[in-house]
Amino acid sequence: MSDNPQNNRYGAGSPASNGSLASRISSTLFHRRSTADANHVAQGSFSNRTTGTTTSGMPAASTSALSQRVQNNGNAIASVLRKTSTPNRAQFTPSSYPGITNLAIASQRAGYDSVAARNPDIQPTTQDRLQVQSRTVSDMQYRRFAQYIEEQSGIVLGDNKQYLVNSRLSALLLRFKVATIDELINRAMQPNIYKDISAAVIDAMTTNETLWFRDTYPYLALKNIILPELAKSGKTPVRIWSAACSSGQEPYSIAMIVQEQATNVVRIDPSQCQIIGTDISPEMLDRCRFAHYDNHALARGLSAERKAKFFKPTKDPNVMRIDDKIKQMVTFKQMNLLGSYSLLGRFDVIFCRNVLIYFSNEVKSQILNKFALCLNPGGYLILGSSESIQGLSDKYEMVRCNPGLAYRLKSAY
Ligand SMILES: C[S@@+](CC[C@H](N)C(=O)[O-])C[C@H]1O[C@@H](n2cnc3c(N)ncnc32)[C@H](O)[C@@H]1O
Repeated sequence: MSDNPQNNRYGAGSPASNGSLASRISSTLFHRRSTADANHVAQGSFSNRTTGTTTSGMPAASTSALSQRVQNNGNAIASVLRKTSTPNRAQFTPSSYPGITNLAIASQRAGYDSVAARNPDIQPTTQDRLQVQSRTVSDMQYRRFAQYIEEQSGIVLGDNKQYLVNSRLSALLLRFKVATIDELINRAMQPNIYKDISAAVIDAMTTNETLWFRDTYPYLALKNIILPELAKSGKTPVRIWSAACSSGQEPYSIAMIVQEQATNVVRIDPSQCQIIGTDISPEMLDRCRFAHYDNHALARGLSAERKAKFFKPTKDPNVMRIDDKIKQMVTFKQMNLLGSYSLLGRFDVIFCRNVLIYFSNEVKSQILNKFALCLNPGGYLILGSSESIQGLSDKYEMVRCNPGLAYRLKSAY
């Protein structure tokens, strides 16, 4: 399941290769599932997602009292967890930045997998231990679950990803007060009865690794070839879709590129450019809309110049927000790539990067052919650096952008 940016054709020099996120997880709200999370969620270590009980191990009522108190104080729950003097308890740490509360609450609602969930140092309380009986999926249940996840999201788990299921779903046991992962999976597979569990489990199985201007070349192609071509054609509005946008870095990077070329002689007027970000994960979409990023996220792929130009400080020195002129260029919508795209309209460019790698060839092919139906004539498709249409769709021709490449809808379509 690793979305490993180093396995790409742009090689080690690309921004994507600057270290794995997992190795640098820090104690902030903004980090979730990364490339190798399973590696550091040791068997038997405690994954305490929020809600039902809390990252502090406190009952929900105390947490809501805490949240209320924190809000009343004008403080917020940020940099959420740290170890305390009681070694087996994590706790919320208030920050001085009120806006973070929204994200914390949104994240709680969405079952945000906080740092505790990834931190083997944080141990369960005795009470937690009593509630949770098994964090290990049985082989039979794993096979049922793998099939279910593929049907629901397209994500292919493969044969030996029990560790991943254990690490991703452990955090949901306390939230939903379920004693074993096998039982959690039973409920998740009955979405009519357990809608919330089902949604949270699918969300938990997504990998959300992303960064600004990922791989550089797609953005150069957009800036140097695709946007000038669209500008010359005089077409308005220009419509760009970031399919599987994770926490927003991709669509916002696209918006920055559009802003940057706004001073060119032949240019797209940013107010005439519609960028739509979609993802299956409601939690990621909450983050996209909130559009606040901490220093760790800002350090990944963003130049100092762009940071100064397109971000505004917040009261928290560790967090910046996207400038409104960028933010208002992008709208977000929840969408499963396995579903219908007909309500989205037609696009001039589709970015669908680093998600097809999780799907079977059959599903990849279906998605690529559905994209073709919602591209304007001559529209472009841009895939991840390790993804290709070869053997999957005949509806596109490859365009070498030097550097990088894109796929253009063939004129017959
Ligand atoms: C690794 S991230 C890629 C983010 C961004 N495109 C990039 O390249 O940096 C993959 C994203 O695909 C989303 N995803 C997974 N399955 C999906 C599906 N069936 N429909 C829509 N989004 C999905 C996940 O929630 C996740 O945010």
